[in-house]
Amino acid sequence: MSHLRARISGIASAVPPDAVTNEDMRSFMETDPKWVLQRTGIRQRYWAREDAEVTTAGLGAEASRLAIERAGIRRDELDMIIFATLSPDAVYPGSGCFLQEHLGIEGIPAFDLRQQCAGFLYGLSMADLYVRAGQCRHVLLVGSEIQSKALDKSTRGRDVTVLFGDGAGAAVISAVEVQDADPRTSKESFLISHHLHADGKYATELMHRSPGTMNRIWNPDELVGAKESYPQMNGRLVFNHAVRRMPEVTLEALEANGLAPSDVDLFVLHQANKRINDKFAKAVGVEDEKVFSTIETYGNTTAATIPIGLDEARKQGRLERGMLVASAAFGAGFTWAASLYRW
Ligand code: COA
Repeated sequence: MSHLRARISGIASAVPPDAVTNEDMRSFMETDPKWVLQRTGIRQRYWAREDAEVTTAGLGAEASRLAIERAGIRRDELDMIIFATLSPDAVYPGSGCFLQEHLGIEGIPAFDLRQQCAGFLYGLSMADLYVRAGQCRHVLLVGSEIQSKALDKSTRGRDVTVLFGDGAGAAVISAVEVQDADPRTSKESFLISHHLHADGKYATELMHRSPGTMNRIWNPDELVGAKESYPQMNGRLVFNHAVRRMPEVTLEALEANGLAPSDVDLFVLHQANKRINDKFAKAVGVEDEKVFSTIETYGNTTAATIPIGLDEARKQGRLERGMLVASAAFGAGFTWAASLYRW
């Protein structure tokens, strides 16, 4: 008997052409390149040109075209677009609609998710459900960010600004009939399960407040250029929660499926700090080599991080069909999630 499941049928990524090294950042703020490398593991990140033509949906479209090609489908076979970002093209409409226009597809639903670093995994769970419910055969899921345009590039903002990069990742999630749907024995390619969480008590610990209705008016003059008009983060608190929640939700996902950390072939995690990856490996009890890292080259690309990680792992020959992959993410909200899938 076969079972209807969803799988990642195509994956791709795109970044802007220019890499900005830790050293380069000294041209606009007081920053210590060694501090950044030692405390975060980041050597460089990609930043888009400060140009109105370069948009989050545009970068997402670059990754999407390739992902669709790799999935072996035509654009008009897509049934839905899910777009995860914290750096949208405009306050509204959602970047999914802008992406749709870039791709020249009409009529299918397009919506945005605002779960920041956990956005791709929240989106993956939704794509999986739509496919398994028989409502969609192919869903385009995009995580894309141009965060550089929103960062405080003065010394005041250095603790946040050095961490973030621009980039996009796209995945096509397609229906598949699998013969063995048991996650413990199957070697077929399919999404197994997703585990999502949020805790709004910490909503103000990592946020970009203005523009927004937490202000007297949407975008008050007195906040333009003030620190509230840039992302603010309680770095240490975020770090402490991330190192607890990411292992916890990964173990929750494994346990729910009767699997152990040693069964996982590759962990493709959100990337915020190399030290978070190292602590994750220790907490879950796996070798560091199993935790794939992209932080050194890309920095934290928020919703784009996991699909960029998957595409990088693919390029480096670290992913083979049938491998058991675990992804986990933690970020603003706080929101966190894990997904398990056979690649
Ligand atoms: N260059 C030099 N010094 C810097 C710096 C830079 N670019 N950025 C910050 N510093 C300084 C600070 O001014 C502070 O100096 P002070 O102690 O004199 O005030 C000091 O470094 C803080 O250092 P430390 O206490 O070692 O910071 P940390 O260990 O908390 O590391 C983060 C800071 C941001 C790297 C870390 O907290 C982190 O990674 N947090 C989580 C990030 C995250 O997950 N974010 C997104 C969620 S997805």
